Amino acid sequence: MDLRVFDNAQQASIAAALALSQHSGKNAIFGFATGNTPRGTYAELADRGGVQCKQAFALDEYVGIDGDDPRSFAHYMRTVVEAPLDLPHGTVRVPNGLASDLNAEAASMELAILQTPVDVQLLGLGRNGHIGFNEPGSRKDTLTRVVKLAQETRLDNGADFEGLAPERAITQGIGTILRAAHLILVATGAAKKEAVHKLLEGEEDDQWPVTHLAQHPNLLLLVDRAAVD
Ligand code: F6R
Repeated sequence: MDLRVFDNAQQASIAAALALSQHSGKNAIFGFATGNTPRGTYAELADRGGVQCKQAFALDEYVGIDGDDPRSFAHYMRTVVEAPLDLPHGTVRVPNGLASDLNAEAASMELAILQTPVDVQLLGLGRNGHIGFNEPGSRKDTLTRVVKLAQETRLDNGADFEGLAPERAITQGIGTILRAAHLILVATGAAKKEAVHKLLEGEEDDQWPVTHLAQHPNLLLLVDRAAVD
């Protein structure tokens, strides 16, 4: 694991943008995260003229939310990632949270990622240690699937949903994420401290899914002081 500690979140975001842009190219396959943490990274990449890639995948999507809904991750990918980074509309594949057969949708996403392996995956971290929406209890070999969100995640992400985010999501599994050749994990702010420390302790624990990333051969962990001190 390559750990870099920065004075503030903005510096960590810039470092993530630099690391990700090193992989930019017409054949690149990216994995993008949603949430607040990577917004600074996407803004920095946009300032640098965007990135090039052949295809990209989102980590997750809420079940029951239409892709046109501003609260959906599909909408986030269009407005925070594709347009600012100068990527053609539809570059980022996001699971369809309204699919009539959600298990088939998850399996189809998993197959697509298997056939088009991700070169570099950008990740944020839940304060309960979740990666994607792999909540506490998630095993290392989990694949893309329908999951129930932890109550604290529903509360943390509830601002746009009158307090409580949807009950379920489709998420890439830990096993899916671990297949990416490079992982860039950004964790900033004191709320992430406990989860960051679990990762740094190096002991794998399903109750802290992020700990499964410790053995990845190319994990770049970018944190600010608040997340480690
Ligand atoms: C995002 C995702 C989540 C977030 C995590 C942190 O696609 O799957 O794991 O990365 O919940 O969210 P923020 O960055 O908002 O603290």
